[in-house]
Amino acid sequence: MNITVTHKLATRLLEAGTEPVSGQQLADEFGVSRTAIWKHMKELEEMGYEIESVRKKGYRIQKSPDSLEAFLVQADLKTKKIGKRIEYMEQCASTQIVAHQLAQEGAPDGTVVIAELQTEGRGRLMRKWDSAKGQGIWMSIILRPDVPPHKAPQFTLVAAVAIVRAIQSVTGLQASIKWPNDILFGTKKATGILTELQSDADGIQALIIGIGVNVNQEREDFDAGVQDIATSLRLESGELVNRRELVQEILHFLEIYTELYIEKGFAPLKILWEGHSATIGKAVRARMSRETLEGIAEGITEDGVLQLRTADGKLHGIYSADIEL
Ligand code: BTN
Repeated sequence: MNITVTHKLATRLLEAGTEPVSGQQLADEFGVSRTAIWKHMKELEEMGYEIESVRKKGYRIQKSPDSLEAFLVQADLKTKKIGKRIEYMEQCASTQIVAHQLAQEGAPDGTVVIAELQTEGRGRLMRKWDSAKGQGIWMSIILRPDVPPHKAPQFTLVAAVAIVRAIQSVTGLQASIKWPNDILFGTKKATGILTELQSDADGIQALIIGIGVNVNQEREDFDAGVQDIATSLRLESGELVNRRELVQEILHFLEIYTELYIEKGFAPLKILWEGHSATIGKAVRARMSRETLEGIAEGITEDGVLQLRTADGKLHGIYSADIEL
């Protein structure tokens, strides 16, 4: 069985959505017999697809397997650039490591690296990031924006807005953003973002935006130590969430918002970010490497720097910290 034809057939049916496509039409389009089409359908069923055969009308996909393989994500993907190249792996140490390597080898702007399982998933400050098989979205996106290196942290905020919008579009859930990179439900974290930089004297060579979304975990799937501080979209919505759709929506909104940022600067993104913020107006503790400050988070600057007012009335610009609400 020619696996490429089977994949192309799946893409064709996924793009047709609820509209059935007749066996004859597929046979004509793919230049094979109707019997061959039927055999490919059986192959797809073995791969985990549920295919409905609608009398006199043809085939349509009722359910696709819960996999993030490139051809599945790329079928009906709405982007122009992000995700046109996807490196998919069943397993890797960290998609960040793979993306750094690909970026150095010249991978194009918008390349996406996705893994079903990471054995050494990492978060900010070199913390471990639990990345169990098939339960979340573990991906890194290579961007090559023409902006100075000091603007790189703003992309974390841009990505956060894109993810909140994507979660809302797929699940209807309203998440909030804790500065700079956590996406929360209440006080529990569902998503983390890790933005890393490759730069030289000429400026940014590549930004690697790592995104980890807890999608379908149950409480017991999290390590005991994080069960009270982590959550998943399934736990929040009470339903299994389609990871493929969520990846597609994240890439779609990331493209929209990075384009907006490049065209109009950070100002419109700042407004969107503030609209989803869990931090602004709250009493917070900011733990930094040298000191810890407590005060009211008043806002973020045009550069995405957190403004914290301490009890003595002083306003502090926080560039990097762990924030406790
Ligand atoms: C954080 O909250 O500290 C950031 C977590 C980022 C996790 C993602 S999962 C995909 C990518 N690969 C990694 O090893 N980390 C990021």
